[in-house]
Amino acid sequence: RPACKISPSILSSDFARLAEESQRMLACGADWLHVDVMDGHFVPNLTLGAPIVKSLRKNLPDAFLDCHLMVSNPKQWVPDFAKAGASLYSFHLECLMDDGSSEDQAKEVDSLIDLIKESGMKVGIAIKPKTPAEWVLRFLPKLDMVLVLTVEPGFGGQKFMQDVVGKCAVVRAASKDVDIQVDGGLSPSTIDAAAAVGANVIVAGSAIFGSDKPQDVIGALRKSVEDHAA
Ligand code: DX5
Ligand code: ZN
Repeated sequence: RPACKISPSILSSDFARLAEESQRMLACGADWLHVDVMDGHFVPNLTLGAPIVKSLRKNLPDAFLDCHLMVSNPKQWVPDFAKAGASLYSFHLECLMDDGSSEDQAKEVDSLIDLIKESGMKVGIAIKPKTPAEWVLRFLPKLDMVLVLTVEPGFGGQKFMQDVVGKCAVVRAASKDVDIQVDGGLSPSTIDAAAAVGANVIVAGSAIFGSDKPQDVIGALRKSVEDHAA
């Protein structure tokens, strides 16, 4: 499987001190920064958009900005995020697909993937807990990452859904090299379940930001992924 990446979710940070908090996470061993974008429509919460990503990029020229778009119209924001300096753009499959066997819907998904890549960003497809993993398989050859939500998206600090994480195994069986990201309720006590089924990119918000020793939490998450890969 591809290398382990730990991606602290800045949703759990102090938004008034975003650059310092992001820098602190990178100094504690974070590989990526997970940026949760919510439009108050796809999910019942409102967070941040491209202007904040642009400021982050200005302050952190080399950081990998892993943007998770929880928005109803993911196509609309591609140019703004590309210009702002997003590294990876993950959109929710549910915005474009409510029928996994529809060729018309699959065409829309394909063209959004192409648009994101042509804009110079890496591309990921995110799936909510009730969306079948099988729906993403046909897109795998064009994807950099699959994001498996292990909570209903919208808020940090929710409980890890153990019964959902098995979807990672379906994706991992179909691809040895795609990044598989898990997001929602990950901590040193839930990581083993995700690492065991092939997840290699770990998002954690409350577990990392809520700790006095974020470097220890990041280290414990990484160790679990690396032990399972060995
Ligand atoms: C949920 C977000 C997550 C969230 C994770 O909608 O996509 O990235 O911030 O937070 P924790 O790790 O606290 O569940
Ligand atoms: Zn997220």
